[in-house]
Amino acid sequence: MAKNSIITILFLSLISTGHGTPVLIWRAQVNQKTVFPQVRQHEFLEEVKPLLETRMVAAFTYDKLSLSSFRCEECFPFLSQESPAVFYANVEKADKSLLGLKPKAQLSVDIDGKLNSTLTCGAGKLYMISLDALGKASNPMKRCDEAMKKITESANCPDVAYLFMGKEDEVVELSGRLYQHNQISFYFTQIQMQSADFIEDIILLNMNVSGTDPMLSVELKSNNTDTSLSFHVQLSSGYFEIRTFYYNDTAYYVSDLYAPQTNSYSCGKIVLRNKDKGILTIRRLQIQYDQERHGDFMFKDAWTCEGFTSPAIISGLFVTAILLGILFLGIGMLMSVQAPTKYDNPIGPGLHINVTD
Ligand SMILES: *[C@@H]1O[C@H](CO)[C@@H](O)[C@H](O)[C@H]1NC(C)=O
Ligand SMILES: *[C@@H]1O[C@H](CO)[C@@H](O)[C@H](O)[C@H]1NC(C)=O
Ligand SMILES: *[C@@H]1O[C@H](CO)[C@@H](O)[C@H](O)[C@H]1NC(C)=O
Ligand SMILES: *[C@@H]1O[C@H](CO)[C@@H](O)[C@H](O)[C@H]1NC(C)=O
Repeated sequence: MAKNSIITILFLSLISTGHGTPVLIWRAQVNQKTVFPQVRQHEFLEEVKPLLETRMVAAFTYDKLSLSSFRCEECFPFLSQESPAVFYANVEKADKSLLGLKPKAQLSVDIDGKLNSTLTCGAGKLYMISLDALGKASNPMKRCDEAMKKITESANCPDVAYLFMGKEDEVVELSGRLYQHNQISFYFTQIQMQSADFIEDIILLNMNVSGTDPMLSVELKSNNTDTSLSFHVQLSSGYFEIRTFYYNDTAYYVSDLYAPQTNSYSCGKIVLRNKDKGILTIRRLQIQYDQERHGDFMFKDAWTCEGFTSPAIISGLFVTAILLGILFLGIGMLMSVQAPTKYDNPIGPGLHINVTD
């Protein structure tokens, strides 16, 4: 992995998206892959399976490994010297794919980087080695590099392929719950309270909306003793707005939580901080105000907090695109105007236009 690769990695980390994991493969030749789109599970297996026919394959996994981990150039004195080495920036479910190949053993290292077993060389043997214990060290990446150096040197196999990769985040799709009372419909998948020493899921039982226009009071009782989550929905000039959430007698201020009454408001994740009490996180929130609700309920088109998808912004972009188009058309036309190549003789007779009545 020469300097070039590191620069490439830096570049990739700027443009990379998706939820896969980076994979570095060394001591064995595999095909390069393009970054976009993601390297699919089957493509990855097509590279790894043939290796197993002739070699031992050991995959080091570190759960927090991401592209940005490789930004630390001096963290990898060992890996950066290894050649051949091929880097895949974004592989879909790399660790799951390998598990599907029935590893001979799943091993782990302790905090000192010591492997809890030994590797035996030989074709067809697949090992998965978790380096997660090194996460507690002060420079985990450097410790991973050292551990891999030690393990590969002591295995000393002639025919091997080594992999270093992260673990894909399990996106746990939480099931949400819709609360409705009077004019308010409130949906979320999770509300969490994180204080200095614990994280707690807040379970809310029921919602009670009282008050009238322009200020509705919303209260959701927590199943946890006497606490509740509450907030006010303020109505003004066609909009509804929430400025503060209260939980356990503590205020958590929120900004930009408003939408027209003709829309609902939605946000993937709202993180609210109170410097004394901690962090209140609300996931997949959607809220709507209806003057009257009847029939089958459906959320109206959402104003979202994730900028780009909001109808307002999309229509804004659309208008801008049209205006820019017109502007460029205009500029194009101006540029195609040519200076006249013939001039009237200034001394000669001027231009005459005969007008007959
Ligand atoms: C090594 O550790 C892993 C994970 O902690 C465990 O599953 C495995 O059984 C251990 N192997 C040996 C030989 O102790
Ligand atoms: C809702 O709030 C009102 C007024 O605060 C109260 O009288 C009523 O008992 C509450 N209902 C529920 C179900 O909590
Ligand atoms: C609240 O709900 C959670 C999850 O359902 C449950 O584990 C917990 O025991 C409940 N607490 C109370 C006080 O009922
Ligand atoms: C509410 O706050 C008090 C005081 O800070 C704390 O002792 C208590 O555990 C909190 N209750 C909940 C349910 O978080």
